[in-house]
Amino acid sequence: MTITREEELAGLKRIGRIVADTMHAMARALEPGITTRELDEIGRALLESEGAVPAPEATYAFPGATCISVNEEIAHGIPGDRAIASGDLVNIDVSASRDGYFADTGATFRVPPTRPSLDRLCRDGKRAMQVGISQVRSDRPLGAIGTAIGRFAEDRGYTLIRNLASHGVGRSLHEYPEEIATWPSRDRRRITRGLVLTVEPFLSAGGLWATDGEDGWTLYSEPAAPVVQYEHTVVATDRGPVVVTLPG
Ligand code: CO
Ligand code: CO
Repeated sequence: MTITREEELAGLKRIGRIVADTMHAMARALEPGITTRELDEIGRALLESEGAVPAPEATYAFPGATCISVNEEIAHGIPGDRAIASGDLVNIDVSASRDGYFADTGATFRVPPTRPSLDRLCRDGKRAMQVGISQVRSDRPLGAIGTAIGRFAEDRGYTLIRNLASHGVGRSLHEYPEEIATWPSRDRRRITRGLVLTVEPFLSAGGLWATDGEDGWTLYSEPAAPVVQYEHTVVATDRGPVVVTLPG
């Protein structure tokens, strides 16, 4: 969507705060033994208490309120019986709507103790997202986002998953502009004033593509390698990005 009025920004910030708070509450509950279904139930209850509707379920009939992806799973993991273990890398992605506004956020968390290489990958994954967000500004080409992230990744010897794009959001979960690259791109489409989009690079130590598993939802890295994802929902302004998925 394109924000033109103050009340639209307020509505977007409200759901942005809700999805961020939900994701962080789920992350605080992460500990060895808890199942991904139990984590999802925490998320569902929080969203419900805020009057928010889980977007993957409402939009795509995804079998869960949130997406929880563990280790070899890199996105769209289905909450279930899997128990979290020490050393796991857990991606929690929360998207939801309230009063007709949609926001989308995600992050990868570590369950200690983790290897130093994974700590570094998480830290740099967050930085890769920030590098992309810093390109969001009225009148820039959308391709600037992926080109900046691509340079960051290449300089540090990382790879990027090249078929999981960022997207417009706001009035629905996925809308114009679809397929925003988080890898080097010549996309000349303009970032217009007030445009709402996600920035969600998938940074990896070797992974290049996301491939389907057998359940019809869960995505895996090809070749197999550790992958992290960090995602914010952002509004483009003449002065730069405004991140709306911030905890309250
Ligand atoms: Co997301
Ligand atoms: Co998204």
